[in-house]
Amino acid sequence: MTPAEFDFLRNMLKTRSGLVLGEEKRYLLESRLMPVAREAGLESLGDLAKAVMVAGAESLRTKVTQAMTINESFFYRDKTPFENFRDIMVPAMLESQRSATRKLRIWCAAASTGQEPYSLAIEIKELEEQFRGWSTDIIGTDLSEEVLEKARAGLYSQFEVQRGLPIQLLVKYFKQTGSMWQIDSAIRSMVDYKHFNLLDDYSSLGMFDIIFCRNVLIYFDPETKQDMLARMAKRLQPDGYLVLGAAETVIGISSEFKPVADARGLYELSTASQAATGAPAVAEPAKPAPAATAASIAAAGIAKPA
Ligand SMILES: C[S@@+](CC[C@H](N)C(=O)[O-])C[C@H]1O[C@@H](n2cnc3c(N)ncnc32)[C@H](O)[C@@H]1O
Repeated sequence: MTPAEFDFLRNMLKTRSGLVLGEEKRYLLESRLMPVAREAGLESLGDLAKAVMVAGAESLRTKVTQAMTINESFFYRDKTPFENFRDIMVPAMLESQRSATRKLRIWCAAASTGQEPYSLAIEIKELEEQFRGWSTDIIGTDLSEEVLEKARAGLYSQFEVQRGLPIQLLVKYFKQTGSMWQIDSAIRSMVDYKHFNLLDDYSSLGMFDIIFCRNVLIYFDPETKQDMLARMAKRLQPDGYLVLGAAETVIGISSEFKPVADARGLYELSTASQAATGAPAVAEPAKPAPAATAASIAAAGIAKPA
């Protein structure tokens, strides 16, 4: 691959997904794109770059972009965000003015294969008594159609369910099918998956009470991070929360958010942004809350991830 071809691919990835690829990541390009090249009947990355440069190579460009995304995820990843959800965010939401409208909207902005939105859906199910009569929407979005397909199917290998998921939750919410585990349809139906590029306009998504945007900002340059955070601030209710990944922060990047004291990775709108958002606490019409199941009613207490 010539330097010009490498630059072409690098610029295309930045424009299409926000991913910034330094020269030192050239190896990543090679390891991830050779299978795409072979699948397209091409012999080298140079040939792939040439094929992608041709006008009209849209589907190949999409394949190249998706092959470069890092999709790693696991249930209850980093634990703390889910403890903060249960101990800080949920109590605040239950006590807020939402208790009149009883609607909670959560956006998992880089949902990948679904472990993050499903961990939140399980938490909500575990708190069913408190959410009785509420309508809770979880929207999981991602750039990659392939990961969204897996998320929608809710099928995970033994390795994937052993990574982070407490055994009692595995037994309670998953069914073994052959060598795989499938998450309960009641949990699956709590999450809507949509294909969405974080570089695009967010306004069609509506307003949210909580945004989980974890382990994706790290791949973007400071300007892209700043722009995304500013636009997320506009999608958040004035008293909403933003949750970032363990290696991510708003500090030095965004004046729209400030950290919540003593809660790692948790942010709220700064006072100026709260005033600017000013949208009603719940914008969308309520949809009926999911019916309680006998099993979930019987479930007493909150099972904390081990
Ligand atoms: C490492 S995963 C994070 C999954 C999950 N949030 C977690 O922390 O476990 C990052 C995800 O971001 C997605 N992604 C990368 N660039 C994106 C973009 N521009 N728009 C939407 N999703 C993107 C990738 O497809 C990938 O599934």
